[in-house]
Amino acid sequence: MLQEKFNKIKQEIIDELKRTKTLEQLEDLNNKYFSRASGELTKLVKEIKNLAEEERPRIGKIANEVKKEAEELFAQVRSTLGDKVQGENKDKVFDPTLPGKKQAIGKLHVLTQIRREVEEVFLSMGFMVVDGPELESEWYNFEAVNVPSWHPARDMQDTFYIKANGKRQMAKVEGGEENYKLVMRTHTSNVQVRAMEKYGAPIRCIVPGRVFRNEATDARHEHTFHQVEGLMVDKDISIANFKAVMDAIIKAILGPDFKTRIRPGFFPFVEPGFEVDLSCALCQAKGCRVCKNTGWVEFCGAGMVHPNVLKAGGVDPTKYSGFAFGFGLERLAMMRYGINDIRLFESGDLRFLGQF
Ligand code: DAH
Repeated sequence: MLQEKFNKIKQEIIDELKRTKTLEQLEDLNNKYFSRASGELTKLVKEIKNLAEEERPRIGKIANEVKKEAEELFAQVRSTLGDKVQGENKDKVFDPTLPGKKQAIGKLHVLTQIRREVEEVFLSMGFMVVDGPELESEWYNFEAVNVPSWHPARDMQDTFYIKANGKRQMAKVEGGEENYKLVMRTHTSNVQVRAMEKYGAPIRCIVPGRVFRNEATDARHEHTFHQVEGLMVDKDISIANFKAVMDAIIKAILGPDFKTRIRPGFFPFVEPGFEVDLSCALCQAKGCRVCKNTGWVEFCGAGMVHPNVLKAGGVDPTKYSGFAFGFGLERLAMMRYGINDIRLFESGDLRFLGQF
């Protein structure tokens, strides 16, 4: 009788284990048969003591075999299900011995960093920071700053003129009589007249921004780069004021070791006009491809604001005078860090950008 019960329960366990799909189900089954208080197999084993004494050893042996077999089957199923769970969770398992994943932390572009420093220095000298459009009318980009229509900069070869659907795009300028062609601004000087119109004189401002030239690129030239324009208009402004401001910015950004020189230069928006050169930091002024073996790099165009420009901005040139300048932000960064190719800035190459 009892022997049959043991055989039956063994078969039951085998059948139920076949249907077991999860470790939770397996635990339930384990309780059902083996729990100390109410397990079905446990109860059967307890019945042995009610048998006749001569029966007990034989049935006891059978009971032990069934129990042992059942336990082995449980162990097998437990290990199979465990492997399956591990496989599913392979990616979720935390292994503290593996090296960690490095978090990539973003940072500001080197030009943004240096632009902010330049802004700080000018702000400390009472300049304000002004913005202007990159897509500009020929009026503000050229005419208003006294660049005549025959000037080579206005050539199609040098400037990006805007077409859409094959049609030249035009801009209407407030108060202007004509429509003006639209260009990608070739310099930040487009904001000189805009700033005077908006704020009048006296004025002290800088205009950092992106500019565009239609030209072949090389180590010194890019089609897209950044300038910082400066404009100071007040009563009795002279070249001495300009030199003082230039000195301050060079000392603050590049340090005291840099030499500058001012020489005459022509720009339609200034009279007189000059160029500021910097001693080349890349070759300690010995001569390299960046300075074209001269030891000097052109850093900045500047001059005393032309009366026509003041007039275009609504400022009376008999009362006010001023200076203006424009320099390349890339050039400043190149001198500071010894970068020998301007094309790196817009390359998006993280091996380059990550160094700053
Ligand atoms: N706009 C000139 C350029 O892009 C730079 C420049 C020269 C700006 C003289 C000025 C200036 O304000 O007075 O090359």
